[in-house]
Amino acid sequence: MSQEDKGKVYVITGANTGIGKVTALELAKRGGRILMACRSEQKALPVVEEVQKESGNSDVHFIKLDLASLSSVKTCASHILDTEERLDVLINNAGVASIRGETQEGFELAFGVNHLGHFLFTQLLLPLLKKSTPSRVVTVASKAHYSVKGALNLDAVKGATDTYVGLKEYEVSKLCNILFTKELAKRLEGSGVTCYALHPGVVASDIWRRIPGIIRPLAKMFMISNEEGAKTTLYCATSPDVAGESGLYYDECKQKKPSKLARDEALASELWRRSEEWVADFV
Ligand SMILES: NC(=O)c1ccc[n+]([C@@H]2O[C@H](COP(=O)([O-])OP(=O)(O)OC[C@H]3O[C@@H](n4cnc5c(N)ncnc54)[C@H](OP(=O)(O)O)[C@@H]3O)[C@@H](O)[C@H]2O)c1
Repeated sequence: MSQEDKGKVYVITGANTGIGKVTALELAKRGGRILMACRSEQKALPVVEEVQKESGNSDVHFIKLDLASLSSVKTCASHILDTEERLDVLINNAGVASIRGETQEGFELAFGVNHLGHFLFTQLLLPLLKKSTPSRVVTVASKAHYSVKGALNLDAVKGATDTYVGLKEYEVSKLCNILFTKELAKRLEGSGVTCYALHPGVVASDIWRRIPGIIRPLAKMFMISNEEGAKTTLYCATSPDVAGESGLYYDECKQKKPSKLARDEALASELWRRSEEWVADFV
C-alpha cells in the first residue's frame, strides 16, 4: 500500500462488484479511507474484507445505501456527514440496466437509481465536499446516452419501466448522468469542487446478469475486464491532468464530446430544477 492518499476520503457507490469493486481496491492501495456505499451488507462485507486484505489497507468500510429509496440515500448521507471530517472524492458508480421496476418513491427504476438517487446523494454531501477542496464528483455514465434521440421526456420518469427490457430507460438515465455533471460543474464553478462524467467501456461486469445463461459468456468474450473498465473512473478521480477541468465527459481516459442532447444547457438546467423538486422532501 502506498501513502499517496493518506488522509483522503473516498465514497464509492455500488462498490461490492464490477467496476466499483476494482475502483475501491485500486484506491485502497493508494492509502486513503474508503467507504463502500452498497445496498446489501451481506454481499458487501466479504468484499470489504477482500479489498482490505488485497490492498493492505484496513481503513475500508461498508456503509448501507439503497439508491432506490430516497430515505435510504438521506440516512446514508447523514451518517457520512456525522462521522467524516472530509470527503475528497465522491464516485457515483452504482447502476442498474435492463431491469424493470420502480423506486420506493415511484420513479422509473433506472432513472431513480442511476440519476435521482445519486442527485440527492451528491446534493446532501456537497457541504462536506466544499469543506474538503480540492475535491471531485465522478459520475459513471455510458456511451448508451448517444442513443437517446429527439427530446428527453421528463414527464415519463414516474411509474414503472415502460419498455420490455428497460434499455430506453437506461439510456435516458445515463444521459441524465452527463447533464447532471454539466449543471453541477456550472453551479460549483470557482468552489474547488470539480465534476466528471465518463463511459467506462463495454465491461464484462455483473451488469449483464440478465442476459440469458448461454449467451452471456459468449458476449462477455468481446468485453473488457473490470480492471480495464475502472481505468477512466480512476483517471477522473485522481489524475492531476484533469484537476483544472470540470463538467466534461471522458472515455478511455480522454475527454470526448457527448451527444448534442447531453450538451444542451437548457436541458441540463431543466433536469436540475425538476430533480430538486422531486427530492425536496429529503433535503
Ligand atoms: N458494464 C458495462 O459495460 C458498462 C458500460 C457503461 C456504463 N456502465 C456503468 O458502470 C457502472 C457500474 O456498473 P457495472 O458494470 O460495474 O455493473 P455491476 O457489476 O452490475 O455493478 C453495479 C453496482 O450497482 C449496485 N446497485 C444496483 N442497484 C443499487 C441500488 N438500488 N442501490 C445501491 N447500489 C445499487 C449493485 O449492487 P448489487 O450487487 O447489490 O446489485 C452493484 O454494486 C454503472 O453505473 C453502469 O451503468 C457499465
